[in-house]
Amino acid sequence: MDRRFAKGVNQGVAPVTYGTGDRPPRGDYANARADYTCEQQWARYTEADHDTYRRLYTRQLQQLPGRACDEFIAAVQQLGTPDRIPRFDAVSERLLKATGWQIVGVPGLIPEEAFFALLAARKFPVTDWIRKPEEFDYVVEPDVFHDLFGHVPLLFNPVFADYMQAYGAGGLKASRLDACELLARLYWYTVEFGLIATPQGLRAYGAGILSSAGELPHSVHSPEPQRVAFGLQRLMRSRYRIDTFQATYFVIDSFQQLFDATAPDFTPVYAEVRARIERDGEVEAGQVLPGERLFAV
Ligand code: PHE
Ligand code: FE
Repeated sequence: MDRRFAKGVNQGVAPVTYGTGDRPPRGDYANARADYTCEQQWARYTEADHDTYRRLYTRQLQQLPGRACDEFIAAVQQLGTPDRIPRFDAVSERLLKATGWQIVGVPGLIPEEAFFALLAARKFPVTDWIRKPEEFDYVVEPDVFHDLFGHVPLLFNPVFADYMQAYGAGGLKASRLDACELLARLYWYTVEFGLIATPQGLRAYGAGILSSAGELPHSVHSPEPQRVAFGLQRLMRSRYRIDTFQATYFVIDSFQQLFDATAPDFTPVYAEVRARIERDGEVEAGQVLPGERLFAV
């Protein structure tokens, strides 16, 4: 996290960027509240914004059969018709009834602790702006399409919804234990890039996959990447790439398996993973360990 922009520069909260580079964050942090949430200001979207959303949604929807998990496909219609960027309030109302979650607007990336606190309160932060037409296929930071289309449908699933809340609470604890880097790998390899084994074959449930036109077919059907059975400690030892399609995906059997495997106290888990990394090193993206069970496509 890079906090180059001190609070006081504007009237809201400090903008947040991750990683390196001088690119300024593009969201309107001046109008965000102390918890980093902001009003969606739906009337400010232009016709071009709605058109971008509609084209992204339509392209991605037709890619889902045979690639996205059933739970995602069943819930995606809860976002409403694709002709306009959804109103967060309307989606929240449906979500609240289904699983007790809400979505809240944010100007973009927010600090880790603020993010964890929202998840722990069953509030999912959704970026309010949409990518420019020239960023149609790839946008560096998450936008409203990634956040809504990718993440929100599975929040309608009760088990996944509970997992996300537990992750938030676990994040607040990881911050105290200085273990956010290990915990972030869990988010990356499940919430963003997770695959699930079904009787019909492998399916995607991760938002980073489901909101990407290129990575969705790649993750499920390309012979290139490794698909490794989910194992908590194996996963936490594994580095990941943020600038290309993933070289490794972790495969769960069910959301219940994921929930149960992550329910125990992570305090000793972090210690064991650190000791293992100390001894054997981290696992590189795309690296397969001896004797490891791989999923074929
Ligand atoms: N069980 C974890 C802990 O004690 C919390 C957690 C749950 C983290 C689910 C991630 C996902 O830290
Ligand atoms: Fe995401």
